[in-house]
Amino acid sequence: MKVNKFSDLIGAEITGIDLRLPADAATHLQLNAALVENVALVIRDQDFTPEQYLAAVSLFGDPMDQHFTQYALPDCPLVHEVSNRHKDKSGTRVKHGAGWHTDHTNHLRPPKYTSLFAVSLPSQGGDTAVVNMRAAYAALPGEIQQKLQGMKTVNVFQGSAAANYSGQSADAQAERKPEPVLQPLVRVHPDNGKKALYFHPVKTENIVGMTAVDTQALLNDLLEHSIKDEFIYRHQWRKGDMLIWDNRAAMHKAHFDYDPNEFRLLYRVLVRGELPIAA
Ligand code: SIN
Repeated sequence: MKVNKFSDLIGAEITGIDLRLPADAATHLQLNAALVENVALVIRDQDFTPEQYLAAVSLFGDPMDQHFTQYALPDCPLVHEVSNRHKDKSGTRVKHGAGWHTDHTNHLRPPKYTSLFAVSLPSQGGDTAVVNMRAAYAALPGEIQQKLQGMKTVNVFQGSAAANYSGQSADAQAERKPEPVLQPLVRVHPDNGKKALYFHPVKTENIVGMTAVDTQALLNDLLEHSIKDEFIYRHQWRKGDMLIWDNRAAMHKAHFDYDPNEFRLLYRVLVRGELPIAA
């Protein structure tokens, strides 16, 4: 197995491994360490059934249930489809993940990793981008880092700011859940002790002690600061690619820059995380 870094800050490619075959303990450790260090990994040349894909992602931890159960594969429900043919109850095409976000922040233990596997790709475009929020935090001026210390986001299934974002489906409104979950705005990575910005713009209703409007203004500023080219890995899909990233140090988004008449289908698995550690 070879690990080839795309840049110092984010992204590495893994070649020379078939994740359908059993991996020994050393390979297992090397893969997990490469993921934490590089934030996003692309594992090339895989060929999975849904069950084999689920087993491959399980090398990184325990798969967990996902929102929007209508997209779960009936025979393998921990694997979901991310498809550009999905429509919501109002008949509108769903644009899964069109804005920068991190997954399921309204869970007490949100997923530590998210993985995608390409099943059908448009002839061009349809990239997935991942941004290193650890690098983004490190690049903030010290006084801003100080100001963010101890802040907590209030996370719901879909916050009131959702109306400002494209790609939010009517189904998301229908599934809105009432119990808010607090998450640290700056979280500490359990494996390396490094701090990262951590928020989901749509699931954050507000920051404790701030109005929803002021919260969105702050999150927008933090996002603008974060989405610098040098912090981003933009994955251009190839057949056989499995992509996985570390949600404890990343946000991600889907690019809808392709012909919508072409079919794009990915499988997605989430890996169970721990309680986020506040900075
Ligand atoms: C997602 O946000 O999980 C979807 C990303 C993608 O479709 O590229």
